[in-house]
Amino acid sequence: MSVRFRNFQAVDTDGLLKLWDQARNSGFEPVYSLAEILASCDKDFAIVAHDGDVFVGAAVGRVAHEQGWVVLLVVAESHQSKGVGSRLISELEAEMAVGGISKLSMLVSDSGRSGVLEKSGFRQLKHLNYFEREVSVGEREREILNQLGGRVLARDLWAKIAGMTPEKEMLERRLVLPLSDPSLAESFGVEPPKAIVLFGPPGTGKTTFAKAVASRLDWPFVEVFPSRLAGDPSGVAGGLRETFNRIDDLEHVVVFIDEVEEIASKRKGDPPSPTQGVTNELLKLIPAFRERPGRLLVCATNYIRALDDAFLRHGRFDYVMPIGLPDSEARSSIWSRYIPSSAHGSIDLALLVDRTVGFSPADIEYAARKASQRALEQAVFKTNVDAKPTTTTATEHYLWAIDNTRRTVSDDVIVEFEQDIESIARL
Ligand SMILES: Nc1ncnc2c1ncn2[C@@H]1O[C@H](COP(=O)(O)OP(=O)(O)OP(=O)(O)O)[C@@H](O)[C@H]1O
Ligand SMILES: [Mg+2]
Repeated sequence: MSVRFRNFQAVDTDGLLKLWDQARNSGFEPVYSLAEILASCDKDFAIVAHDGDVFVGAAVGRVAHEQGWVVLLVVAESHQSKGVGSRLISELEAEMAVGGISKLSMLVSDSGRSGVLEKSGFRQLKHLNYFEREVSVGEREREILNQLGGRVLARDLWAKIAGMTPEKEMLERRLVLPLSDPSLAESFGVEPPKAIVLFGPPGTGKTTFAKAVASRLDWPFVEVFPSRLAGDPSGVAGGLRETFNRIDDLEHVVVFIDEVEEIASKRKGDPPSPTQGVTNELLKLIPAFRERPGRLLVCATNYIRALDDAFLRHGRFDYVMPIGLPDSEARSSIWSRYIPSSAHGSIDLALLVDRTVGFSPADIEYAARKASQRALEQAVFKTNVDAKPTTTTATEHYLWAIDNTRRTVSDDVIVEFEQDIESIARL
């Protein structure tokens, strides 16, 4: 056997692909994708081994900040345990050394053969696990997102929503499930939703849910502010059209329009109101938006009954979902979210839950912050001389804050909301 080693050349691509296939068929589990390896062959470092005309091995590496990474080491079955692997690595190291590396590393799957690495002086570190994930949006999309003022949200927003279990479950089933796995949905004849309306009293979490859905799907989030498009040379309607045009270039996206009643309220008589043209534009944009997969339009409103009937017609919005006030279980979770962990256990949570019937999540958040502020001030300035010294919040701070927080949602509004659920909601 006389194996020759040299740098990778374009003509080696076929041989490499064949060897890759053979290795995959005999159980080799690559850490890097073939596309990444080919890119490194082209731009980074790659050594190949030939026995006569036969391609029998390759080692590919890249260098980052003085650390070399072997991204592929593969040897034909016929040539294993004959020193080919070790030689490939040492040749590769010699090439990469030019880049001034001080460490050479390699990730291999459990099923990889580590013998050749140990022989080549690699130390296997125990208890390491390899994690990876896809980057949510590529560079070109980032640019469009920037122009649109959109962004990729933190990944934990869904988990951060306290309580609201029925609403969460509804959104999880109706939106997240089909959108995150469209082919599964399709096999059941389910068409993933493209547009929904969330409605409910102020502060119940409509915006929070819209963002959480984007975060859950790992899709970028773009909020469209029709009022801000007023400065557009082609007017709000033109601005809206332009915005949706640009959104069209994104692979995946959740588009959010808050207070949609401002641009889609009932059309009234003659002469048409100035928002009329905007409503019409949005009505025209929705069908085009619905045509492409991988996108979801979420409109939110406090005042669903003000919306134009044509706007809510079947075919435009898949669901019209109510987001209501939190029940006692949800209030308990929301309180727990805002009570500092040092105070958990010493607070009479049931009492707070009981005293905040009719509070929205926003009201509870407000009261909780007020209580915290008061507790902090009392502890530092000792304004209440009779009080025991405290290091955190106490039930009395919360009760005081609750007494000093006005409920945002009145009983009348709750009654109207219940009626709207009956007559307008679509689930
Ligand atoms: N389930 C929840 N758990 C914890 N905090 C919540 C929850 N829902 C809402 N909040 C908090 O309440 C506040 C109001 O929520 P959000 O803005 O989503 O309400 P909204 O329904 O969009 O209100 P509006 O109708 O005024 O636009 C936010 O600060 C949010 O963090
Ligand atoms: Mg909102």
